[in-house]
Amino acid sequence: MNKIFQFILIITISLVFSGCNNFKPKKSKEDLKIAFNIESTNSEKYSKYAQAAVKEGFDTIAQLFEAVSKSESIHAANHGKTLEKFGIDAGSAEVASFEVKSTAENLKAAIKGETYDMQTSYPVYIRDAEQEKIPEIARSFTWAWNGEKKHFIYLRKAQESLIKGNQTNLPYLWLVCPTCGNTYCISDVKALCDFCLTKQENFLGYRKTAE
Ligand SMILES: [Fe+2]
Ligand SMILES: [Fe+2]
Repeated sequence: MNKIFQFILIITISLVFSGCNNFKPKKSKEDLKIAFNIESTNSEKYSKYAQAAVKEGFDTIAQLFEAVSKSESIHAANHGKTLEKFGIDAGSAEVASFEVKSTAENLKAAIKGETYDMQTSYPVYIRDAEQEKIPEIARSFTWAWNGEKKHFIYLRKAQESLIKGNQTNLPYLWLVCPTCGNTYCISDVKALCDFCLTKQENFLGYRKTAE
């Protein structure tokens, strides 16, 4: 009986270890950790940029920074959850140091960061995840990548408005999809999130209109 038990135990342990060895999303795993830290840093940074914008009296730009900060935190959470699905404890993010300057300078820095993520980081991460055939990781990266493209457009508009001095005309209300972090200006919000199909009524910032 003991020998049978030992045999079963050895087989079980062998299967567990062989399963672990077969899972080798090495590059994607590293990419996810980096992206998790970058998104967490960006979320904190934009939150501080929002506070700086309030101090300068740029309320519309502060609202945009707040929405983008929330969006980045959802990207970070998705990357963290994806790491955990593969048995890797994301732990606390390593938030990099950053400077908070004037809103004009903060917008410039934000646009530079979004450009890099949009053109360089995420295309590489998505390629790695596709090469390693991990669709779940590719999806987390793709949601963030598509989100960064929208952030870039919104931040550029804010920068142009600030230069012209008509920032008060910028949108004040923003909605953020809680599933994928997609960010919507109130004027172009959709019934369903165009990245993940979450219903608009679940978006963060959603307000039911009086019937
Ligand atoms: Fe972004
Ligand atoms: Fe979404």
